[in-house]
Amino acid sequence: MKKIYLPALFLILVLTNQIYRVNAQQKSIAQKVDSVLRLMTLEEKIGQLNQYNDDNEATGPVTLDNDKISQIRNGQVGSLLNTKGTDRVRSFQKVAMESHLKIPLIFGQDVIHGYKTTFPIPLAEACSWDLDAITLSARISATEASASGINWTFAPMVDIARDPRWGRVMEGAGEDPYLGSKIAFARVKGFQGNKLGDTNSVMACAKHFAAYGAAIGGRDYNSVDMSDRLLWEVYLPPFKATVDAGVATFMNSFNDINGVPSTANSYLQRDILKGKWGFKGFVVSDWGSIGEMINHGNVKDGYEAAWSAITAGCDMDMESRNYKNNLVQLVKDKKVPITLIDDAVKRILQKKFEMGLFDDPYKFCNAEREQIELNDPEHAKAARLIASKSIVLLKNDPLPGGAGVGLLPLSKNIKTIAFIGPLVKALKQNKGFWDVEIPGLDSNFIVSQWEGIKNKVGTGTKLLYAKGCGIEGDNKDGFAEAIEIAKQADVIILSIGERRDMSGEAKSRSNINIPGVQEELLKVLLATGKPVVVLINAGRPLVFNYTADNAPAIVYTWWLGSEAGNAIADVLFGDYNPSGKLAITFPLSVGQIPIYYSHFNTGRPAYSDDNHNYNSSYNDLSIFPKYDFGYGLSYTTFEYSNLQLSNKKMKANGQIEVSLNVTNTGKFDGEEIVQLYIRDKVGSICRPVNELKDFQKIKINAGETKIIKFNIDKEKLSFYNQKLQWVAEPGEFELNIGASSKDIRLKDNFELVK
Ligand code: NOJ
Repeated sequence: MKKIYLPALFLILVLTNQIYRVNAQQKSIAQKVDSVLRLMTLEEKIGQLNQYNDDNEATGPVTLDNDKISQIRNGQVGSLLNTKGTDRVRSFQKVAMESHLKIPLIFGQDVIHGYKTTFPIPLAEACSWDLDAITLSARISATEASASGINWTFAPMVDIARDPRWGRVMEGAGEDPYLGSKIAFARVKGFQGNKLGDTNSVMACAKHFAAYGAAIGGRDYNSVDMSDRLLWEVYLPPFKATVDAGVATFMNSFNDINGVPSTANSYLQRDILKGKWGFKGFVVSDWGSIGEMINHGNVKDGYEAAWSAITAGCDMDMESRNYKNNLVQLVKDKKVPITLIDDAVKRILQKKFEMGLFDDPYKFCNAEREQIELNDPEHAKAARLIASKSIVLLKNDPLPGGAGVGLLPLSKNIKTIAFIGPLVKALKQNKGFWDVEIPGLDSNFIVSQWEGIKNKVGTGTKLLYAKGCGIEGDNKDGFAEAIEIAKQADVIILSIGERRDMSGEAKSRSNINIPGVQEELLKVLLATGKPVVVLINAGRPLVFNYTADNAPAIVYTWWLGSEAGNAIADVLFGDYNPSGKLAITFPLSVGQIPIYYSHFNTGRPAYSDDNHNYNSSYNDLSIFPKYDFGYGLSYTTFEYSNLQLSNKKMKANGQIEVSLNVTNTGKFDGEEIVQLYIRDKVGSICRPVNELKDFQKIKINAGETKIIKFNIDKEKLSFYNQKLQWVAEPGEFELNIGASSKDIRLKDNFELVK
């Protein structure tokens, strides 16, 4: 036996080297992929489809393997996740280079909103509506991560989310398919940079395919029951946008959708993604989701699970081990054709070639570059500006006797400020969920809110601190101290909210009030008669009616990342005029959920809270949200005027140019997000009362007027009809232009003619 095998092995080795040498001269990656594929055993092919977690960190339920290293050496692993740092990545890659075909590993990581430099959580960043800023934050994240050995991020998460009980609302771009698509595109471009293969580019991963955000009851991992129309119209567009942006990979989702787990959903993965959309990258399962199909009750065992997933187009198995344990047998049993395996392997090898890993498997392992990129001061500067842009000013009432001027911005010469609350001195909390833990790096590079404000005010300002209470619990022992310093102050700043890990994966909550006694603390502080500015730190829309109705100024800070303190200080003291607008509706009560602006009118619409006469209202609760989609204040005011349409009739192949003036009528320079909504008055399918179809974020100096122009074309008027055809139906349309989905300032009508 040995006599037969040894020469064969020798031949393979010679061939391998030859093939690689030939590869170097070959032009097309497809040819290179084919030549590698020809050398692979079935086991090695299946190895490429197998992804393991590095045991040093877990982002899911861990299965410990003692023999990961030998499996890598045997060519049984195609990718690792949660390995980071050039040294550690290099050490694993070195083992892969000892394998017979020397196929490099891909290293994946959840770089969701930053690597070392943490940017605002994605939902916060979405509130900036600033696509350049969003691209930049992804670009910097990719630059840092790639310098630290990583070449694949499991981002962007592009799930539309309309239920703030779901902890993962923090990770997406909110409720709207149009805004969500623009942001999805921007994030992919940011992560992938100019092209895969650049040393500072990482593969992006559009997740979670699909409709994960529509989990019933807002419970993570829960089932989704959804019409095709809703799927196509609301939940799929951001995914399509990532394909248009050239996204390298997709991740499927934990949920079942209409009874079929996404992991084994061939309609989604084969028909839509790889078929209709022509996606050429590969699809990875979510953590263990192939095995979880047994729990779904969709398959009997791992053998069936592996069959089901690979058949449906899931190329790589993250952590479930079902591909590794069953695919060889499935091929031998002729249940899975080798062509299916080959297709999956080719997609993965293609990306490895595109990233240049075959040329240099250590190209992301330059320790010197790692040091430079992780310490680039420009990254912190960008994080500070992007964090400022993500803040949403919810309320800014004038003080009694304040001559109509809002409490904010504060003067830097205030004599005494009482800075109170459980989050004032927190460091890591500011990073929110899905930050990246980098071994050996403490939290010193995070700017706390205390630090930020201390650095902002002059030496003449006295800054007093009291914690007041915890984030949770009912202990009010700290109230007395808080009241004591409040009495000495001219202004109180109160920083309250969630703990950072109250929103995130598996962090669904049925009660989304501000936890503990924090609002009670506000109450006693307000009783001192001193003006109070409330900072709300959270990963989701919270319900905080007492605060909303009683505090004169409210700043929704979300979780802003490593520069949180500086960004908050910039906004509070007027060095940055807040420009963020909500990318998700804030409910008045959890009882209204799901609540979103682009709902249907119904046959018995309710227009007010005073009339419940056989209409679509609540008898015990308002139908209106607390804060609408698109809402957010500035220190200045903007006036909209002079709406003009180039034509009131549009042919299907034509366009209407819309123009309007926006004037900054206040005293501060500022940025306004001008939002264009359309209502299709009569459709063969009911149409929402309003749909965002365009927006522009523009800087307008105090006193200045700018002309804003939009184009309306057929695309903006189209929807999926009953046959799921994308059509624009002739008829009347309403054009609504405003500062939020509710605050419509200019209106007109136009007609689409045949
Ligand atoms: C499970 C999450 O759903 C997914 O988003 C993430 O990328 C993986 N775990 C890996 O951490």
